[in-house]
Amino acid sequence: MKIKIIAVAILGIFLYSCSPKVIAPVSEVKKTELSPELLAGRTLYENNCARCHKLYLPTKLSEQDWKPVLVRMQKKARLEDAQMVEISNYIYSQL
Ligand code: HEC
Repeated sequence: MKIKIIAVAILGIFLYSCSPKVIAPVSEVKKTELSPELLAGRTLYENNCARCHKLYLPTKLSEQDWKPVLVRMQKKARLEDAQMVEISNYIYSQL
């Protein structure tokens, strides 16, 4: 019986330590501070913008620098304009 508990505990630690950390920087922002629209934008951002590279922190670039990058990345990520508006609003809300 004890051995089972220990095995489960070890598995738990193992799974926890191997779970992806990419999303961590964005999740540092408290969810409660975001409106539902911005939360939706953040979800889109997390789901679509970390496929090819790590998730960039919104604060990594200024609004001026984000604009051309978002145009380039929309094509790469093949996102609709409406989705891109949500993502952009989320990013700008964090600056
Ligand atoms: C199909 C792959 C792909 C997807 C999906 C993708 N990117 Fe990129 N991203 C790249 C590549 C390749 C580069 C480096 C070359 C470049 O800057 O164009 C890059 C670079 C970047 C940079 C750094 C640019 C700089 O000038 O420092 C940022 C920021 C970025 N991506 C944000 C995003 C965002 C936001 C999304 C979601 C809308 C996204 N990426 C989705 C491939 C992708």
